[in-house]
Amino acid sequence: MVPDSFRTDESHSMWVGGVRIADLAEQYGTPLYVMDEASMRSRIESYVSLLSDVRVNAQVFYAGKAFLCSAMAQWLRQWPVGLDVVSAGELYTALSSGFDPESIAFHGNIKTADEIRYAIQAGVRYIVVDSLAELQMVEELAGKSDRRVPILLRLTPGIDAHTHAFIRTGQFDSKFGFAMADGISDQAVTLALASPHLDLMGFHAHVGSQILETEPFVANAETLLEYAQVWHRKSGWWPQVLDIGGGFGVRYNAEDDPPPLRPMFERIAQKFEAMTPPGCSVPQLAIEPGRSIVGEAGVTVYRVGAIKTVPGGKCFISVDGGMGDNIRPALYQAKYAAGLDGHGPDEARNVVTVAGRYCETGDVLLSEVTLPEAKAGDLLVTFVTGAYNYSMASNYNRVPRPAVVLVANGQSHVWVQRESWQDLVRLDRLMHSPS
Ligand code: LLP
Repeated sequence: MVPDSFRTDESHSMWVGGVRIADLAEQYGTPLYVMDEASMRSRIESYVSLLSDVRVNAQVFYAGKAFLCSAMAQWLRQWPVGLDVVSAGELYTALSSGFDPESIAFHGNIKTADEIRYAIQAGVRYIVVDSLAELQMVEELAGKSDRRVPILLRLTPGIDAHTHAFIRTGQFDSKFGFAMADGISDQAVTLALASPHLDLMGFHAHVGSQILETEPFVANAETLLEYAQVWHRKSGWWPQVLDIGGGFGVRYNAEDDPPPLRPMFERIAQKFEAMTPPGCSVPQLAIEPGRSIVGEAGVTVYRVGAIKTVPGGKCFISVDGGMGDNIRPALYQAKYAAGLDGHGPDEARNVVTVAGRYCETGDVLLSEVTLPEAKAGDLLVTFVTGAYNYSMASNYNRVPRPAVVLVANGQSHVWVQRESWQDLVRLDRLMHSPS
C-alpha cells in the first residue's frame, strides 16, 4: 500500500526513496508524481526470478500502458524483460529509448495501417492481432515486407473475472480479441495458418485487470492450451508462445489481498508441461504485468487549497490536482489511501471529501475519508498511484500535467518534466487573419 522505501520521521514528515516529500514538493512543485525505484526494482526482480524458477521457459513483458516514459523504457533494459506496447506512440517511446524491438509485443484492439507498417519495419517480436479486419491488413502489409511477420491471435476465452466491469476483458462479448465461440477464433486460426506471409506463433488472452484471485489466470492458461490441442489434432500446428496477459492485482487498500504468485505460476507451468502433446516443445509462457510492477511504487503529492464546509455539514478539502492526473476515482470509483504530511497518528481526525481542481462535480479524489485536520498549504499524499495515473493524465481545463520524479537512495531524478503553460499552446496555431 505504501512504497517499499516509505517512512515517516519523528516529526511525522513522510519520506520516500530516502527523500523528504516536502523537499520534493518544494523543489519540483505540486501536484507531483513520485516513483520509488526500490519498489519497482523489487517487483521486476521478483517476477524475473519467479519465472526463471518455474519449470517452463517464461518471459515477462512489462505492460507499458500502466506507466511509460523514455526513462522507464531505458530503466527496464537492466532486466531480461520485454515490453507490451499498444500504440505507435508507445512503440516510438520504447524504440527511441534504445529498447530492443525483438523484445516488444505490439498490441491494440484497433491498429492503423501506419502503426502496423511501423511495427513490421521496426521488427517487433510479434504483433498481437485482434480482429479479422486487422488480420487481413497485417497479412497484406506482411506480403509487402521481405519476411514472414510473426503474430499471436488475441482470444477471448469466456472467462468472467471479478473486477470492475470497465477493466474486464475475458468475457465473450468483450470488444477485445477473437471470441472462442461461434467459430470466430477458428476462422482466424485457419486464415493465419494458410497465409504464406504470417507466422502464427501462438495465442494471447488477457482476462482483466486488478484481479485478486488465482483461478481466472489458471483457467485462462488451461483454455489456451486446450484450444492449442484442438488445433494440433486438426492440423499438427502447435504454438511456440502462449501469453496469458497481465492483470495481477495490487493492494490499493487494506482489504485488497492479492494471492501469492509463485504457487499460481507453478500450477500454470505444470499445465503447460502436462498438456503439451508428445513430440512437441512446451510453449513459452508469456505474461504482461503492468500495475503490479509500478502501482505501489507511485505516490502523488498535492497541495491543499481551500477547505469548506457546505450546508449539510460535509467538509471538502480541495487540492491542486484531481481527475487530470488521476482519472481512476471518477472512471472506476477507485478508492485510494491517503495521508497528510507532518500530521501524527494521534491527532484528531475528521471525515472529509478531497475534491480535485477540475470543473466537474465528479472530480472527487477521495470520498468520505478520515484525515487529520488539514489547513491550506498542507501536503496531501495519495498512495498506489504509479499505474494508470500518469499514463491516463489529461490536460482538461488546460492544466499542465505534473512532473514525474524517480527517487532512489536519497536522490531524485526527473523522469518527465512538468508541462508549462507554453507547452499547452505549443501545438496550437492562431487563426489566419480575416481578409
Ligand atoms: N496485457 C493486456 C493485453 C492488457 O490489456 C493489459 C491491461 C495488461 C496486459 C496489463 O494489465 P495490468 O497488469 O496492468 O493490470 N486503466 C485501467 C486498467 C486498464 C487495463 C487495460 N489493459 C485502470 O486504471 O484500472
